[in-house]
Amino acid sequence: MLGALVARMLPLVPLPVVRRVARRYVAGEDLPAALNLVHDLNGRGLQATLDILGEDAGDHPMADITLDAYLEILNCIERDSLGSNISVKLTHLGLRLDAEKARNRLFTLAERARELGNFVRIDMEDSSVTDVTLDIQREADQRYGCVGTVLQSYLRRTEADARSMAGTRADIRLCKGIYVERPDVAFQGRQEIRDSFLRAARILMAGEGTYIGFATHDRALVQSLVGLVGKEGFPRDRFEFQVLLGVPVEDMVDDLVQRGFKVRVYVPFGEEWYPYATRRLKENPKLAAYVLRNLFTRARSR
Ligand code: FDA
Repeated sequence: MLGALVARMLPLVPLPVVRRVARRYVAGEDLPAALNLVHDLNGRGLQATLDILGEDAGDHPMADITLDAYLEILNCIERDSLGSNISVKLTHLGLRLDAEKARNRLFTLAERARELGNFVRIDMEDSSVTDVTLDIQREADQRYGCVGTVLQSYLRRTEADARSMAGTRADIRLCKGIYVERPDVAFQGRQEIRDSFLRAARILMAGEGTYIGFATHDRALVQSLVGLVGKEGFPRDRFEFQVLLGVPVEDMVDDLVQRGFKVRVYVPFGEEWYPYATRRLKENPKLAAYVLRNLFTRARSR
């Protein structure tokens, strides 16, 4: 409800206010700022994954610019000896313009990542591109051995996808899913989505060799996962927890690190911070309330 209200009101909020709130979710507008932040995270015992904000490249030159920017990130991670991989969206590499060209750009990235001993995560976008994303990831991983993707537990198909991946060496991030999907495609209930998350986790854990990134801020779910890996004796070198930069779960993250779990922070940066920050705001009632308060205070003082 509040999310929908914020969505409608957000265009009225002055840009500096959104920028101030966005700051916590985004490492900055350029690569040096993002690298500094990763350096700090590493100092706190956390790994990172760097993401250039943006999706749906408008044309091929834009997609090539994105590819070059990601190649530069890989080189800088190596140069600065940082603990980070990269997360990329296939539509940012031009998937909706030409799937073959986007695949080739992804292969170029994967080849460089392999040379550097790094890793490429393909973020999962809406369900119209799930099949092609899984196909490209599978092919890229077979060729280069350093490409993983994401399964979204709200999708009804995810249990089947998890079964087809379990037992491969796949490196899979498991999250709930952020896009608006139809009820015939995706579970809608909070508990249904959690249950599906745990079912997919169990399936992936049962397969030999699969590596899992549990990506959630849901404290109850994290508790269940900690219980599950403990009960099953799932080896610590086969999974990690992942959170988004800025989501107020520092206490949970510190606790996980202290208990010896590996935790990775998703670190987005770049000029296209506005749509990303808007999405994050809609998920966070407390920050949304702050923005609205600010809006109304300004309105009153006019
Ligand atoms: P849930 O939404 O139930 O949130 C749990 C608690 O955390 C709530 O109290 C909520 O208020 C708080 N919270 C959650 N998000 C917040 C935010 N942004 N700001 C403040 N508080 C917040 N999705 C996708 O479709 N494709 C992808 O590739 C990825 N990749 C990805 C990587 C990583 C590292 C993470 C953590 C998440 C993603 N996601 C994603 C997003 C994911 O699908 C999901 O939408 C969000 O993580 C929110 O779901 P939670 O599991 O955190 O639970």
